[in-house]
Amino acid sequence: MALADIGLIGLGVMGSNLALNIAENGYKIAVHNRTASRIEDFVAGAGDLANNISANADLGDFVRSIEAPRKIIIMVKAEKPVDQTIAALKEHMQPNDMIIEAGNANFKNSLSRFEELKNAGFGFLDIGVSGGAEGARFGPSIMVGGAKEHWLQVKEILEAIAAKFKGEPCCAYMGTGGAGNFVKTIHNGIEYADMQMIAEIYGIMRDGMGMNPLACSEIFNSWNEGALDSYLIEVTGQVLANIDQKTGKPLVDLIVDKAGQKGTGRWAAIAAMELGVAATTISEAVAARSISALKGERITAENIYGGSGQGVVEINIKTLEQALLVSKIAAYAQGFAVLAAASKEHGWDLPLGTIARIWRAGCIIRSQFLDQIASAYEKGGAVNLLVAPDFVKIMKNNQQGLRQVVCAGAINALPTPCLSAALAYFDSYKLANGTANLIQGQRDYFGSHGFLMRDRDGEQHGEWPSTFSSGE
Ligand code: 6PG
Repeated sequence: MALADIGLIGLGVMGSNLALNIAENGYKIAVHNRTASRIEDFVAGAGDLANNISANADLGDFVRSIEAPRKIIIMVKAEKPVDQTIAALKEHMQPNDMIIEAGNANFKNSLSRFEELKNAGFGFLDIGVSGGAEGARFGPSIMVGGAKEHWLQVKEILEAIAAKFKGEPCCAYMGTGGAGNFVKTIHNGIEYADMQMIAEIYGIMRDGMGMNPLACSEIFNSWNEGALDSYLIEVTGQVLANIDQKTGKPLVDLIVDKAGQKGTGRWAAIAAMELGVAATTISEAVAARSISALKGERITAENIYGGSGQGVVEINIKTLEQALLVSKIAAYAQGFAVLAAASKEHGWDLPLGTIARIWRAGCIIRSQFLDQIASAYEKGGAVNLLVAPDFVKIMKNNQQGLRQVVCAGAINALPTPCLSAALAYFDSYKLANGTANLIQGQRDYFGSHGFLMRDRDGEQHGEWPSTFSSGE
């Protein structure tokens, strides 16, 4: 076979599917995997696409089977395996060859890998690939970070394999090193918030309103026809309708209520904290997963305090839909605010409108709603989505629904951490006269930190009585 257009290392589910996607789009791809038997299985299962695939168990042969300057995607487990693969590849690569890291890596590591490889004369792109296994196979959303010249070398292939929204590829250049993985991390943070808010609404339906999974499923299915239309709502409807073959019971009732997490949500929350941006829906979603994992402790605590109110909530379905819509807007506003701050901090110049556009298809948070976000940014001037005119209208018309749901949750001990965080964010953001004047007074009292005053210029201090006590 002629030299390959591109190479890929790491034939796990995501890597295999991405390789098949590339082959199906007519590109010749060389593949390699640390465990050689996996390579044979992969080629054997590739059917006709095997004609576009060359496989090599030897890393040197693999590298040499790709046309120079080489483009090599690595899709191995995050962190250590990535560094090990890069170190091994460097032994065989030539100057100007490029590594494309496509796993869910921490953007800080991508930043340093970018610098390190640049200094060694190699190219490096960090690409966020969203859409799960099916997305990788049939069209993911792809966020690219690295040097523009390297992006231009792979643009054609990446755009060809990406999902399309009305014919437009969901793949774009985000900014220099680290930007691709950062944007993917925030995508996942929003994904966490979105999923948690859906789960909280399900909790109100299941416990507060006594609805069975099938009835909940029908509601989510109907919402998928309206303003909430999105992949995650669709998935929710299907998960709730699924029946366990062994028992004939709804599967969701048999799944243990302990959520896993691989770390991207936490990275998003940490990044927000480090940038000083309120992304409380994301951090509450991460915290909710952490608390969910404490199953044993929760059982003990429920025995002490009693559980939540069962079947006592009277709320109409439309109100729940409004609550979800409004809180979703708050979560996206927070996610995009983190992106905007990171863009400044790292000099990435992140294209916020484009990000919304490439999230419209292929990725896990894909939805119609992102089309509205894209146009809000493209119309310009949206400091925060909460004040973008299209969203103002939705917030005004629906915010009451979120208030009712959060109240019902609080009164009946039905936890709504993410919905409550969304409401608190909205109320705090739209409050012209807040309470931080008191915080400033407190800070000055015990630490002489100073404050600004409404009626005079410059930093001021109060004259506070001394309350110092040595404790005796
Ligand atoms: C995607 C997903 C993908 C994956 C997460 C799940 O965009 O395709 O976000 O990256 O589903 O890794 O993460 P958790 O295991 O942390 O839920």
